[in-house]
Amino acid sequence: MSNQQKSPRIPIIVDGSDVSVDAKSHQSLLAYLRNELLITGCKQGCATGNCGACTVLVDGTATQACQVSIASLENNKVETVESIVQTALGKQITEALIERDAAQCGYCLPGIVMAAYDELSNAKTPDPKHALQHNLCR
Ligand code: FES
Repeated sequence: MSNQQKSPRIPIIVDGSDVSVDAKSHQSLLAYLRNELLITGCKQGCATGNCGACTVLVDGTATQACQVSIASLENNKVETVESIVQTALGKQITEALIERDAAQCGYCLPGIVMAAYDELSNAKTPDPKHALQHNLCR
């Protein structure tokens, strides 16, 4: 038997699945999603909290994953664009963007889908300008 102590783990739910994270991890949520779980819909743009390309939902609220430590998310529910586009609202948002040729290069689009989903899910009076205030596109 090893004398080494296991590092403490914290539970997080990602796209409906339970995951266990090293409580001492210094990774951002974005790095964890992309590098550990291979969920790559969220993109790294600025990595400084300014572009919104990394937007995911944390407990239903649009959150810039590059600015959140994975170790701070004990018992939180994280949803990525991969699961959101499977929902009825997520499908409506993506279809609307496609109909209007809004994708352009597409790099920032997952973040825009997530911000729109948050606005349409949570705002009493959804406002596109408010929804996308934290999302930059070239
Ligand atoms: Fe997170 Fe730009 S990569 S806000």
